[in-house]
Amino acid sequence: MRRIRLSFADLKVEFVDRDRALKQLSELAEKGTYPVYVIYGPEGCGKTAFLRQAKVILEEEFGYHVIYTNPLAERFEEILEFTPSVKDIVKEVLGVFPEPYSKIVDVAISIAYRVIKKFSRPRVAVLMDDIFQAVGLDKAEAYAKTLLNLIEYPPREYERIAVLVTSSEGITWERVGRHRWVTIRIMWNMSRNGFEELYRFVPDPKLDFETTWRLTGGSPMILSGLLRAGWRVEHVVNDLIVSRNLEEALLRLNDESLEILREAIEDPDVIFERLAEEPVQRLRDKLIEKNLIIRIWDRDEYFWIDVPPPERDPGLGIGKRYAWQSPLHREAVRRVLSASSK
Ligand SMILES: Nc1ncnc2c1ncn2[C@@H]1O[C@H](COP(=O)(O)OP(=O)(O)O)[C@@H](O)[C@H]1O
Ligand SMILES: [Mg+2]
Repeated sequence: MRRIRLSFADLKVEFVDRDRALKQLSELAEKGTYPVYVIYGPEGCGKTAFLRQAKVILEEEFGYHVIYTNPLAERFEEILEFTPSVKDIVKEVLGVFPEPYSKIVDVAISIAYRVIKKFSRPRVAVLMDDIFQAVGLDKAEAYAKTLLNLIEYPPREYERIAVLVTSSEGITWERVGRHRWVTIRIMWNMSRNGFEELYRFVPDPKLDFETTWRLTGGSPMILSGLLRAGWRVEHVVNDLIVSRNLEEALLRLNDESLEILREAIEDPDVIFERLAEEPVQRLRDKLIEKNLIIRIWDRDEYFWIDVPPPERDPGLGIGKRYAWQSPLHREAVRRVLSASSK
């Protein structure tokens, strides 16, 4: 298998680890997906890296025509990527939409329809990377249905189709998941061994591995943040606070919610235990919306892309039912709370 090269802070690294995820991908590639697969996971856990590696595998090992879109990609050329076989169709469709890049998800779907029409019994893969924010969170369900329609009512027969969507927008999870249109899977940060492999790519001077693991909990995004910040943990935490405006978001909570939040820093499962209380529900929604915690329940491997997190790891902020997206996400909240109580 060819492993892709990825940008990582200022480095280029090879796609590492995720062996189980890649095996799962091969299984999906053998039969296609039904219904649409939606993969949730903490921001920065590696969903984009996985989908981009998936693109190459689906093309090179399974002969799929792949259409990949990441509407929020930083680099223009990563917003829409495709197998060379569909180049002409892409050109056509880009010409049909007056402002194609503002409607890139529709563009990608339209390309997929035309690919099915043009080729005889093709294998088609549609990889939709973090599209819900781009289409509008309120339209996440509608798009899930549109993608299911592609599978169920193709314009012509296909041999196989695989539709994979990723999202870090936890607030869409319940709405999208209540339909038969999707199968929800979760992806977690990297396993300790996999993460160590990535850590080895990082040049010295660096913090020792044990400390890095405790700070990141295996989040490649946090590792790259630390690297960019010259290992000044403070800066990474501050970036988290500023980028999601945590001060204002948390200080607007009432005393009761603040109290629960303090408890949740010690043990995120308190949110589950007290979910019958309305302030706790509101607090949970806020923490999910701000990408601070994620809901997880079963560790049955069946529900997971790659390997599930440990059953509980209080040090990393992982409870049985809820988890902090990384130890530094939790630290950001802790910092805001302690500043406000001074
Ligand atoms: N398996 C991996 N091997 C190497 N680098 C990875 C891997 N997974 C993620 N990364 C890198 O870590 C950073 C965050 O990952 P990304 O895929 O952007 O996360 P997400 O899409 O879940 O927000 C990126 O720089 C990405 O290239
Ligand atoms: Mg991403």
